[in-house]
Amino acid sequence: MNKNDRANFGSKLGVILASAGSAVGLGNIWRFPYETGNHGGAAFIIIYLGCILLLGLPIMISEFLIGRHSRANTAAAYQILAPKTHWRWVGRMGVLAGLLILSYYSVVAGWTLEYITEALTNSFSGKSSADFIASFQGFSSNPWKPVLWLIVFLLATHFIIVKGVEKGIEKSSKIMMPMLFIIILVLVVCSVTLPGAQSGIEFLLKPDFSKVDGSVFLGAMGQAFFSLSLGMGCLCTYASYFGKDTNLTKTAFSVGVIDTVVAVLAGFIIFPAAFSVGIKPDAGPSLVFITLPNVFQQAFGSIPVLAYVFSVMFYVLLAVAALTSTISLHEVVTAYLHEEFKFTRGKAAKIVTGSCIFFGIFCSLSLGVGKEYTLFGLGLFDLFDFVTAKIMLPLGGLLISLFTGWYLDKKIVWEEVSNQGTLRMPLYKVFIFILKFIAPIAISFIFINELGLLR
Ligand code: PHE
Repeated sequence: MNKNDRANFGSKLGVILASAGSAVGLGNIWRFPYETGNHGGAAFIIIYLGCILLLGLPIMISEFLIGRHSRANTAAAYQILAPKTHWRWVGRMGVLAGLLILSYYSVVAGWTLEYITEALTNSFSGKSSADFIASFQGFSSNPWKPVLWLIVFLLATHFIIVKGVEKGIEKSSKIMMPMLFIIILVLVVCSVTLPGAQSGIEFLLKPDFSKVDGSVFLGAMGQAFFSLSLGMGCLCTYASYFGKDTNLTKTAFSVGVIDTVVAVLAGFIIFPAAFSVGIKPDAGPSLVFITLPNVFQQAFGSIPVLAYVFSVMFYVLLAVAALTSTISLHEVVTAYLHEEFKFTRGKAAKIVTGSCIFFGIFCSLSLGVGKEYTLFGLGLFDLFDFVTAKIMLPLGGLLISLFTGWYLDKKIVWEEVSNQGTLRMPLYKVFIFILKFIAPIAISFIFINELGLLR
């Protein structure tokens, strides 16, 4: 394929919002709160912020420069920049991670569609906390319903991918991201003013470092990679559609800030509400689906129209946030199959959608009828989440930092990140130092520590 035929994002704002659209998703609103809950609250958040700053941003800039310089899918990018070396496996591992994440992510994305229909049919009204717990458990372990929604969600993603991503993503991101932000702010205000919200706020702000162990570090690092869409070539693929005038460091900074702010605000919605209605913060993946409908009922109980409108809007926007992320995951694998195996884009997309439906069905069933089938003590859904977020993405990040820090010609690195001299030399040196030493050592240390080799 001629490089000049490749699609391009149309505007700088589009670049930021599409990348932020990939980053902001279920990872922020669904995964971040339950990981924070499982790992003890504020202390986890502080370590998470450290991971974003020290590992996330430099690695994001690396992915951006690898993608924009090679202008190819993530596997080919390494072949172009490091011909005839094993670096191409970094790209290939990313493609595989994309496929696995998309499979189980779509299960949860499908849940948001069920919750939209429930909100639309006003079925949250008059329910108690216990009802919400029971109905979520009933739904997520049902063998049919979640599978149907999963298929619907993947087909919607498929539809946008074959239509051509840029106009779809760019346009929808420009409308949906600001809307998402406004709704989140309103919900934060509602949540923190609920009776008994205080202990939830404390949970988020008062660090208890006695709870910190190796698993907290691994959890925070995995969450940082997952939330920023890093370590699997997603932002690398998007960057292959960036124009030459896109400022990579500024874009990375904007995406990092937007993503972190949304995640922390999601915490301020979920925890005050969860504490207020007596739900434990370590309820796991179901946390958001049980507490949120409750918030709407409690906060707007006396004005049912508002409870209705907010429930619908929130789940629509949650689905849209998930959609801008599933599109970016799908794009990684589709671009790879399309460019490497010369399938048409449509056929490549069909293969991706079909495979994800296949794996997704098993992930979904592993939460219900297939509960007893486990591998390494985990059901398929949890296994996909663990293997991707806690192993493949950090490992990808480690290799990307080694690639940019040690292997890649520094002329290319400087040319890409300096943006006609707008990046100052000292900052560039810090960037390279982090990639050469800090990131690889920190990631390896967290890995080794968690594997128990240091104990
Ligand atoms: N960052 C997305 C989220 O937070 C998930 C994602 C991971 C998307 C990896 C693309 C690649 O929901």
